[in-house]
Amino acid sequence: MRAAGATNGLVAVSPQRTVHAPARLSAAPVAPALTARDIGLVRTSFARIAPTKDLTADLFYDRLFFIAGDLRALFPDDLAEQKKKLMAILSTAVGRLDNLAAIAPAVKALGARHAGYSTRPEHYAIVAEALLWTLQQGLGDAFTPEMKSAWTKVYTVLADTMQQGASEAAALRAAE
Ligand code: HEM
Repeated sequence: MRAAGATNGLVAVSPQRTVHAPARLSAAPVAPALTARDIGLVRTSFARIAPTKDLTADLFYDRLFFIAGDLRALFPDDLAEQKKKLMAILSTAVGRLDNLAAIAPAVKALGARHAGYSTRPEHYAIVAEALLWTLQQGLGDAFTPEMKSAWTKVYTVLADTMQQGASEAAALRAAE
């Protein structure tokens, strides 16, 4: 369970150094720091799958519902818009990897909306598995362990920030 108000460690990353934001609450998990190399690997690989992003989104949802069929009922019947929105937010995040803090408010709001979609914390690992599998399919041998690790860090930052947003929104509602 995440403590409301905990920092998620989102920080700007320069090519020279990687900085961890200080955690205000020791119980809060610290987001993995992205190195300049991580950013390069994620950007290169995303650019490679961008021309086939419709196919990538198809593969992702097929895999997600193959792994966890019960999640299908949470989504609208027609996934077309959903697929576009998912690829758009990924594209935005990949574009801002050098300063994810800049999009943290939008990502937190996304996480708060997800609470209304019946998303539970344990679902995030399932989505991660489906996403990494999809990238592996799309990139083949180019999806090296180092690239997988870089994508895992990016996903973790996004998922942690979304869950932080959900916790903060719930705490605000409880205080009303
Ligand atoms: C980093 C992880 C995730 C990202 C970037 C992401 C992104 C998105 C985006 C952009 C939307 C469009 C709607 C909106 O903007 O509010 C959406 C909708 C949705 N997401 Fe996620 N999501 C993530 C994780 C999850 C997880 C773990 C679940 C759990 C099953 C989930 C379930 C849903 C559902 C059910 C909708 C459709 C809601 C509706 O239209 O009724 N998402 N997601």
